[in-house]
Amino acid sequence: MGIHIVLTADRAGVIPTAFTANIGTRIVLRLAGESEYAAAGVDADILDHSAGGRAVVNGYELQVAVPGGVADLSAQSTRIEALAVRLREAGLPDAEPVERLAGFIPSSDLPATVAGRPGFGVDDETLGPVGIPLDGLFVVTGPFGSGRSTAMTTAIRAFRVAHPEFAAYLLVARKSALAGATAWTEASTDADDAEALASRLATLLEQSSAMPLDPLIIVIENIGDFEGLSAESQVARLLKAARRAGVPVLAEADTVTAPAAWQVYSELKTARAGIVLQPEESDGLGLFRVPFPRVTRTDFPVGRGILVDSGKLARVQVAWSGPIAIDR
Ligand SMILES: Nc1ncnc2c1ncn2[C@@H]1O[C@H](COP(=O)(O)OP(=O)(O)O)[C@@H](O)[C@H]1O
Ligand SMILES: [Mg+2]
Repeated sequence: MGIHIVLTADRAGVIPTAFTANIGTRIVLRLAGESEYAAAGVDADILDHSAGGRAVVNGYELQVAVPGGVADLSAQSTRIEALAVRLREAGLPDAEPVERLAGFIPSSDLPATVAGRPGFGVDDETLGPVGIPLDGLFVVTGPFGSGRSTAMTTAIRAFRVAHPEFAAYLLVARKSALAGATAWTEASTDADDAEALASRLATLLEQSSAMPLDPLIIVIENIGDFEGLSAESQVARLLKAARRAGVPVLAEADTVTAPAAWQVYSELKTARAGIVLQPEESDGLGLFRVPFPRVTRTDFPVGRGILVDSGKLARVQVAWSGPIAIDR
C-alpha cells in the first residue's frame, strides 16, 4: 500500500520481539556501550567516539545528512520550512493528519440517529458516530466518577429525540442526577415512590399481552441504591416484565455497590448490550459474559468505555450532553 513505518529505539532490547521480524532495515547510531553494540550486531569501534549522525547500515558506514548541512537547529528548521514552501508551490498535497479519538465530544456533533439508533458516542476504530442499542435492556456501568450519569443523560436524551412518541419513566431510590435529564412522564423521588411506580409499571407490562401498551422506556438510576429496600424486589420484577414485553430499559449500575442489590443485579446479567466505562478486564465476563481484551483503566479517560452489543465489542467515547443537575 506504499505505507512506510519508521520507528526509533534507544536500545535494541526495547523493541518488542513481535516487531523485530518485520524490521527491514536498521540504522544503528552511536549506542550506550559494548553490550548494546553486540546486541545490534555492529562492531563497537566503528561508532564509538564518532561524530553525531554517524551510523552503520547494512554493513556500510553512513553519515546522516542534515538540512542545509549545518549543525545549528534553528538554521535547519528554516531550511525545512523553505523546503515545505517549495513543495507546496509545486502542488504536493499536505500529509493527511493522523486523527485520534477526542476526550470531549459534544452531543451536538453527533447525528440524531446512526443506522436507526440514537446517537451515543464516537467509535475509537472508525472515529465515526455510534448509536445506542436500546431495543431491550442496556446497562451503563463503571466505577465512581467514570461518567455513568453523563452516559445515562446522553442516552435518554438521544433516545427521546429519536423516539419522541415514547413515554419515559425514571426509577430512583435516593438522590437523582437524572431528574433534570429530560421531561419525564413520571419520576420517583424516594424509595417508597420508586416501589409504587415499579409495581404499577410491572403490573401494566405483565398484562401487556392482553392490553396493548403505549410505547415507553424505563430508566433505572443507580441500582446499588435499591439494596436492602423493599423497592428492590419490585424493580427486579419490573425488569423481568420489561424483558418479556420487549420494553426498552436503561439501567445504571456502578461496579462497587450494584452487585449487593443482587435481586436486580441478577436481572441485569440478562443484558446483551451495555457500556463499561473505564473498564477492568474482568468486567466483561462479570456482567456480559463476554471476555474483554487486556485493558488498563488508565487507557480510558472519563466517558470512555467498552460498548458491548450482542457479543461485539467497541471502544467508545460517550458524547457530552450538557450539564447534569447533581454531581456525585
Ligand atoms: N462523556 C464525557 N465526556 C467528557 N467528560 C465527562 C464525560 N462523562 C463524565 N465526564 C466528566 O466526569 C465528571 C463526572 O461524571 P459523572 O457522569 O457524574 O460520573 P459518575 O456518574 O460515573 O460518577 C463530569 O462532571 C465530567 O467533568
Ligand atoms: Mg453519577
